[in-house]
Amino acid sequence: MTRAELDKQPHEVAAMFDDVAARYDLTNDLLSMGQDRRWRKAVVRAVDARPGQRILDLAAGTGTSSEPFAAAGADVVPCDFSLGMLAVGKERRPDLPFTAGDATALPFADNSFDAVTISFGLRNVVDTAAALREMLRVTRPGGRLVVCEFSRPVLAPFRVVYVEYLMKALPPIARTVASNPDAYVYLAESIRAWPDQAELAGLIGEAGWASPGWRNLSGGIVALHRGTKRF
Ligand SMILES: C[S@@+](CC[C@H](N)C(=O)[O-])C[C@H]1O[C@@H](n2cnc3c(N)ncnc32)[C@H](O)[C@@H]1O
Repeated sequence: MTRAELDKQPHEVAAMFDDVAARYDLTNDLLSMGQDRRWRKAVVRAVDARPGQRILDLAAGTGTSSEPFAAAGADVVPCDFSLGMLAVGKERRPDLPFTAGDATALPFADNSFDAVTISFGLRNVVDTAAALREMLRVTRPGGRLVVCEFSRPVLAPFRVVYVEYLMKALPPIARTVASNPDAYVYLAESIRAWPDQAELAGLIGEAGWASPGWRNLSGGIVALHRGTKRF
């Protein structure tokens, strides 16, 4: 069983997700106590995909984050570098064009998507800035970015309880359900080390996106960051 370290070596990250692929969606639902469904609906509203628009769902994994865009009539391309996650996705949704690709060197043309979104993926990419620049490159001028990622709870007392949950309760729960429990130790550690809302908005702006901003979900457990590509 493989787990990645906080230096996020791509071969370790991909192998870790290969290991969790079989029970990924079930484990997510359990560990987030069903909150992930609410967060996903908020992503779909923020992306506001229209029929016929081309949407890149980067780090799409098994395609759970891609499905609502297809349901809205958009042409969604789920892209990920874990072949294990892609295989589970393709079996479940053979109609979606699952594509193998690395977020830091995307296999797509410049200006080829109306919107690019990434859910619970950016934190795992070895080079955040490179991924944000690649997402900008493949988005058309005027197109939009939506990043959904774990963030920093706003209220200090809740933050303390939440970090306790992440570091102490989550790994034992994961041991009972996940196909690779060590991956969930990485999950807790990587959330704790991830930039807060303002820092991530800064990175998005530095990568060249206009008007970076965010909205907190579940008190800041998750944040939705947005940006647009300048004309
Ligand atoms: C937590 S899963 C999220 C899957 C899906 N977006 C969701 O919301 O359920 C994170 C995904 O990021 C992918 N990933 C991490 N680094 C990547 C990279 N450099 N390029 C492409 N995918 C990457 C992993 O393979 C994994 O499938």
